[in-house]
Amino acid sequence: MTQTITVIRGDGIGPEIMDATLHVLGAMNLDLHYEEADAGLVALEKHGELLPAQTMESIRRTRVALKSPLTTPVGGGFSSINVELRRQFDLYANVRPAISFPNTKSRFASGVDLITIRENTEGSYISEGQEVSADGETAVSITRITRTGSERIVRYAFELARSTGRKKVTIVHKANILKSTSGLFLKVAREVAAQYPDIEANEMIVDNTCMQLVMSPEQFDIIVTTNLFGDIISDLCAGLVGGLGLAPGANIGKDAAIFEAVHGTAPDIAGQGKANPCALLLAAAQMLDHIGKPDDATRLRKAIVATLEAKDSLTGDLGGSGNTMSFAKAIASRV
Ligand code: NAI
Ligand code: MG
Repeated sequence: MTQTITVIRGDGIGPEIMDATLHVLGAMNLDLHYEEADAGLVALEKHGELLPAQTMESIRRTRVALKSPLTTPVGGGFSSINVELRRQFDLYANVRPAISFPNTKSRFASGVDLITIRENTEGSYISEGQEVSADGETAVSITRITRTGSERIVRYAFELARSTGRKKVTIVHKANILKSTSGLFLKVAREVAAQYPDIEANEMIVDNTCMQLVMSPEQFDIIVTTNLFGDIISDLCAGLVGGLGLAPGANIGKDAAIFEAVHGTAPDIAGQGKANPCALLLAAAQMLDHIGKPDDATRLRKAIVATLEAKDSLTGDLGGSGNTMSFAKAIASRV
């Protein structure tokens, strides 16, 4: 059966990297049908809404979206369109792989192959309880951790380890200080870990984790952690492997999944053909895994690696003199 994918072209460099990505996917002769839907500034101009109802319906129907970055205008009604999308579809698992690629500008030429699994719906990122006192002197915010939320994200991490042949899950926390919230997460994580005797589990405090990631990233396989720590750690990991142009992410829930680059709309280079399409292409590879096409996902990743190895038409962020589409064509010729 042909799988339909909701495609959101997005703002800034979004349309350029989406054209490049669809060009490569087109060359792969996959049995996919693309349904375009608007979101972000483009949607605001065309439909008067940042997240039009027909876009939400499309994702609800197809259950899979490939999405370019979106601009949330200041004062747009909600704090971020991305946070709103994750909330609406309860996309609780943010899955961000960081893998060493050849010929990048990273400090680690090889040896990084890890996935950060970030809880995407609770922790410090809940929109309730953000208060500043009337005199402007005191600010308070609420962090909420639940047993259910912790259990499902940790279980997701261990199940992913099992299904992908990864060996170890590191539970990252700050339970020594944040005794209630991080404490509950750690307690539940230990209970879940005990149910997976075939997967090695260890615990690490978040500040030490950052130091360990920079000193010896090869000790990590899967990291599972709460929302704020996962946000920061996954950017650190993107930096380890050569930057945002190579960092993809999946937002996964029970009923839907949205695949995107970690980076934003890059207004400084938009419309100039300078954007590296690899982050969105790697997100597309995660999408192919998700929809049951792991061989095609591997084929796509291999073509990206081969193109990087050959230094064929790479974009400027990788030290090349190619552009978004020439890079995509070089990858497409290797799929
Ligand atoms: P950004 O990620 O757009 O850009 C940071 C730097 O990285 C810039 O110098 C940019 O040129 C460079 N860069 C990013 N992607 C690149 C690529 N594919 N190839 C080459 N260089 C690349 O972050 P910034 O500037 O903080 O945010 C810009 C806008 O993007 C904001 O409106 C923000 O809200 C939005 N944003 C959207 C996200 C999403 O839709 N998931 C995520 C992050 C930011
Ligand atoms: Mg972030």
